[in-house]
Formats: sequence, C-alpha cells, structure tokens
Amino acid sequence: MSTRNGAGAAAGNDLDGRVAIVTGAGAQGEGIGNGRAAAALLGGAGAKVVLVDLSQDRLAATEDLLRDNGSDFISIVADVSSEAGCRRIVESAIRQWGRVDVLVNNVGVVGPAESVVDIDPVAWDKLFRVNVTSVMLMSKFCIPPMRAAHGGSIVNVSSLAGALTHPRPAYATTKGAILSLTRSMASRHGPEGIRVNAIAPGTVYTPMVQAEGLSEEARAARAAILPLRTEGTGWDVGEAVLYLAGPRSRWVTGITLTVDGGFSADLRMSNAATVTPG
Ligand SMILES: NC(=O)c1ccc[n+]([C@@H]2O[C@H](COP(=O)([O-])OP(=O)(O)OC[C@H]3O[C@@H](n4cnc5c(N)ncnc54)[C@H](O)[C@@H]3O)[C@@H](O)[C@H]2O)c1
Repeated sequence: MSTRNGAGAAAGNDLDGRVAIVTGAGAQGEGIGNGRAAAALLGGAGAKVVLVDLSQDRLAATEDLLRDNGSDFISIVADVSSEAGCRRIVESAIRQWGRVDVLVNNVGVVGPAESVVDIDPVAWDKLFRVNVTSVMLMSKFCIPPMRAAHGGSIVNVSSLAGALTHPRPAYATTKGAILSLTRSMASRHGPEGIRVNAIAPGTVYTPMVQAEGLSEEARAARAAILPLRTEGTGWDVGEAVLYLAGPRSRWVTGITLTVDGGFSADLRMSNAATVTPG
C-alpha cells in the first residue's frame, strides 16, 4: 500500500493540530444531525473544533460527543445569516487557536413550501440568506487565514434537492446555488491551496427529519426503495465531510459527493432503461 502524499496511510489522526469550524453543529435533542456527526468525526481525527449554532441548548449533545472522544472544542452561539455573526465566529477561532484549516458550511433549513406563484418573496430572500449567503459570508472570513497558510478545505452541505430536484422550489434553488458556488470557488481558490467541495445527501434520518414527524412505516418505505435498502444517517454524511476535509482528498476539488444509498444512480438507470434498445 502506498503512503506517498499521505494517501493509503492508516486511518487515524489525519487532522491533528488542524482547526475546523462546523456551522449548524447542533441539533434538536440528542439525535445525530449531519453537523453534529461531522463535528464529532473531525474531533475524533484530531481537529480542534469550533461548534456553531443558533442556541447553546442545541450544542449540548454535540459537546458531550466531543468530550467523550477527548477533543478540543469551543462553542459559539451565532447566526450565520449575519455578516457580524460570521466575522465573530472566525475571529474567535483565530483568537483561540491562531488558524482555520477546515470550514464545514452545514447550516441549511427547508423553508417555505409554496410554489413560485404563492411564495412570499420576503421568505424566499430569507431562505437564500440562511442557506446560500451564509456560505459566502463564512468563506469570506475563513479564506484570508487559509490563503495565508496556503492551505484549507471548505465543505459545503448541499442536497439531492439541488443536484436533482425537490418539490419546494426555494429549497431546491438554494441547494443548487451551493453547487455552483462550490465549483466557482474551487476554481478561484485552488491556486491558493484551498479546496472547495460539496456533499449532496439523500434523505438521511436526522433530528430535522424527525421533527417533521416521519412515521416508522414511512422511514422503512424510504429505505426499501434504495439500492442499498438501508436508511442513511448523519454519520454517513459526517464520514463524507471527514474525507473531503482532510488530506486523503488532497487532489479533489470542485466535486459534489453524492451520499444517498444509491438513490440517484438508480434514477439514472431507470431512465436509461426506457431509451436503451433491448
Ligand atoms: N436531513 C436530511 O435528510 C438532509 C438531506 C439533504 C441535505 N441536508 C442538509 O444537511 C444540513 C444539515 O441538516 P440536518 O438534517 O442535520 O439539520 P438539523 O436541523 O438537524 O441541524 C442543523 C442545525 O443548524 C442550525 N441552524 C439553522 N439555522 C442556523 C443559522 N442561521 N445559524 C446557525 N445555525 C443554524 C439549527 O439550529 C440546527 O441545530 C442542511 O444543510 C440540510 O439542508 C439534510
């Protein structure tokens, strides 16, 4: 097994001494959200983690996970749709540890359900502010220290809603915008040593989904249609974040890593079957 450039090395503390910011690192209750799982896995790989959420209550169970695996962390209550909030988050990381190596833009809310005919334009703008502008604002403050260190990794959490579609047009559009922004930033900041990638999770079972009241039957039915026949969790998304954040993906930038139990692959196969002779 090659260990050149770090690839192929034993799994372990890939992120020792690195500083990672995870937005939306909390979740309602004790369930495992994508940000909570990512924060715990980054901490487990040796990173010092800056946990960001709207309230301290939401961060408590994430802090417990990080304490359990002996990770260094600080918690910051901030709203990433505010420029001042994003500036304060990055300044706190620099004040605490003097660097920022990884930024995980995980905050995302589903927002209004209405069609473009009925949606309130103010609610549309608000969703863009939370889901998309936050990615720009956090990156705006993280890139200068990354650039100075000639290294950094930004991971943006999009969704199959952006890569494929979603019945809520506002959500679908914000998640699609994240994918375009990811590619543009990857191209622009690659020469500065900064990688930028996105993750498109399928429907994983997180506290956000739990709060929407999904029944046990509906969960089983969702899993049964997947090629892998298994429900995804926040840990599956967290593992993808860990890979894109760390040195094992050193030659990967501008991609969308789909984490969906095969859902989108199956969709393409079904479509192909309708046009393939025989
Ligand atoms: N759960 C899924 O099935 C699924 C599927 C595809 C993509 N995603 C994406 O994954 C990400 C996380 O989803 P989740 O299901 O783990 O969500 P979650 O609601 O369980 O956790 C997200 C956290 O973000 C925080 N947050 C919301 N707005 C914020 C703001 N303005 N500033 C700071 N923190 C804020 C919330 O308080 C919450 O604790 C989102 O971007 C979501 O769109 C989720």
